[in-house]
Amino acid sequence: MKVDGRHFRSIWLEPDGWSVGAIDQRRLPHEFVVAGLTTCEAAAEAIRSMLVRGAPLIGATAAYGVALAMRTDVSDAALERAYDALMATRPTAINLKWALDMMREALLPLPPSARTAAGYAKAFEIAEQDIAINKGIGQHGLALIEAIRARKKPGERINVLTHCNAGWLATVDWGTATAPIYMAHDRGFAIHVWVDETRPRNQGASLTAWELGHHGVPHTVIPDNTGGHLMQHGMVDLVIVGTDRVTASGDVCNKIGTYLKALAAQDNGVPFYVALPSPTIDFSIRDGIRQIPIEQRSADEVATMTGRTADGRIETIRVVAEGSPVANYGFDVTPARLVTGLITERGVLGADRDALARAFPERARGR
Ligand code: MRU
Repeated sequence: MKVDGRHFRSIWLEPDGWSVGAIDQRRLPHEFVVAGLTTCEAAAEAIRSMLVRGAPLIGATAAYGVALAMRTDVSDAALERAYDALMATRPTAINLKWALDMMREALLPLPPSARTAAGYAKAFEIAEQDIAINKGIGQHGLALIEAIRARKKPGERINVLTHCNAGWLATVDWGTATAPIYMAHDRGFAIHVWVDETRPRNQGASLTAWELGHHGVPHTVIPDNTGGHLMQHGMVDLVIVGTDRVTASGDVCNKIGTYLKALAAQDNGVPFYVALPSPTIDFSIRDGIRQIPIEQRSADEVATMTGRTADGRIETIRVVAEGSPVANYGFDVTPARLVTGLITERGVLGADRDALARAFPERARGR
């Protein structure tokens, strides 16, 4: 998508043909900084520190991390070390394991001398596949938005609520939850997005709002606890969120607070959709609440806030009383029964085992 008129992806291979460029998302929205990743360790640290984040982008970065590892050591042991180091970076998004498995399956059978070139080719393929998937999600999600538009008066605003950042910054391009929104906007629909700020790291306020603003999509940032009120007053037509892992039975894990939005949506008859790229399905588990590992992050993310002061300095301040303990669960699970539908690259599916297995038989098999 575009940043000041120039097309960017969130991650790319630099013109030198080997180093990897990525937008440093810790610096947005105040500064647009490109980071260079030159080693597997740097790729792992970029994921751990959330220089890059969002389930599909975590997967793509890990894939390039393996390719970078193969530049200096092409042995089986080095491949396994890279796999383990990258796998240990963040626990919840299953795209990380999916991408690492793809890389290992592609590289391990090859003669070591072929692994570096093949690693870059596979990482590129994973990044391209992400873009194609997101375009598919965009087209299927667009049909849902079109149906809502058909029920409205000409030019009347279509209000979508989203949580966290499942935009192009969280993927390689287009985003998952945002792909239908960008496509609707590009077709001239009067679409408006309620952007949950998404404490504690504020991915909504700092990333989704930034993205939408650069693309010209009308949006309004709201405190996380506002969505229920808006739904009670008919100010939300549909919710579209992203996801970090969906179980075989359709339970959805996403950024903390998503479950509360799903409850409010159900209470108010607002459709609650999840944009789901197939690499985010974990067919090995069924019970999201008991089986998905939920990342717990630093208390500092809750106890402090970072922003720009009136005179332009970036500063971090404490917002919690000194000495008060803080809990920071990164994700929660929305049970399948609260999900209206899963917007995938193969169509909009019910959030249930049969629908997922029918749409993705090649992934469901062998589980
Ligand atoms: O902690 P983050 O910023 O990596 O969390 C991101 C989310 O929760 C996204 O909604 C999810 O990864 C889907 S991104 C298409």
